[in-house]
Amino acid sequence: MTTLTLPGLADVHTHLRVPGGEHKEDFATGTAAALAGGITTVLAMPNTSPPLTTPDALALAYNRATAATRCDLGLYAGASPEDVAHLPALGEQAVALKIYLNDTFGKLRVEDLATLRACFQLWPRHKLIAMHAEKQSVAVGIGLAATYGRSVHFCHISRRQEIELIADAKAAGLPVTCEVTPHHLFLDEGDATRLGPLGDMRPILGTADDVAALWEHINSTIDCIATDHAPHTLAEKHSDSPPPGVAGLETSLPLMLHGVVDGRITTDRLIQLMATNPRRIFDLPAQPDTQVEVDMTPYTISNDNLYTKCGWTPFAGMAAAGRVQRVTLRGQIVYEDGRVTAVPGSGRVVL
Ligand code: NCD
Ligand code: ZN
Repeated sequence: MTTLTLPGLADVHTHLRVPGGEHKEDFATGTAAALAGGITTVLAMPNTSPPLTTPDALALAYNRATAATRCDLGLYAGASPEDVAHLPALGEQAVALKIYLNDTFGKLRVEDLATLRACFQLWPRHKLIAMHAEKQSVAVGIGLAATYGRSVHFCHISRRQEIELIADAKAAGLPVTCEVTPHHLFLDEGDATRLGPLGDMRPILGTADDVAALWEHINSTIDCIATDHAPHTLAEKHSDSPPPGVAGLETSLPLMLHGVVDGRITTDRLIQLMATNPRRIFDLPAQPDTQVEVDMTPYTISNDNLYTKCGWTPFAGMAAAGRVQRVTLRGQIVYEDGRVTAVPGSGRVVL
């Protein structure tokens, strides 16, 4: 058995569904899934019910996270037209601001220019702004980054036209960063047809050429791998109006390590994309005495023994390398041989 030792990974894009969606996931189950995937810091998105757009909603989520998280966890505040006046206060309670420019699960959306300008003027300058922007909306985000001279992080970039525009923006010296998900690297529109609602998420799966473009930029333009872990129950997925989103916390590292075994990326680059860069970009606290030990024996991903409450993965049946064997967080063993040993509340909520 070959063992690989990695630093604790950071996933800057998860939906842990608290408050209001606890039948899909909660902080205790979502962070158990994170540890099982070698991830020791997660950032949770604000498209909850209610959304995290007010100090009260964010304080509630913060308290729930403090009581339940098993790894380190930070919260995003959400931007909404009704709550722009709260932005300075929200900056005290969240790691970053999330602005949704395009349609997705939940009602959180910014569609007017006045709110967008307010976000860039009022959100504290030392905290990051992250955007769900697709197609032309990426140009809107780049324009705002240039206009206000502040960093913008693009979530789940999925198309050739988008990654090439971000490459151009970086070449022009603009302060933009981006993440890509494992599902956009390992699945395409053919898989969307095969999987039906289980292969539907926002952004939708791309063409083979989109996937090729992402891999072409894996050693340059792409800053982070983030899961966009967005669990929904199988009943919801098989309903008449299936919500978009798929789980990803437990399969991200095994899939990316498959990319290492295939020679598509190096282990050093994987560490940059999944640990060093996300921690630097979001200014996340270091975790001393923290490591992930991985058994590199190849295996097939399955729906069995998942910690995510939704209990399924769109990657079932796919080849992976690297089963997480042991995770140590600040000197404590938090996951070992398939068992999460960290108790709820043992992780830290980070700001
Ligand atoms: C996410 C969800 O379910 O919350 N769904 C998705 O398809 N990605 C929302 C989002 O990240 O846009
Ligand atoms: Zn998301």
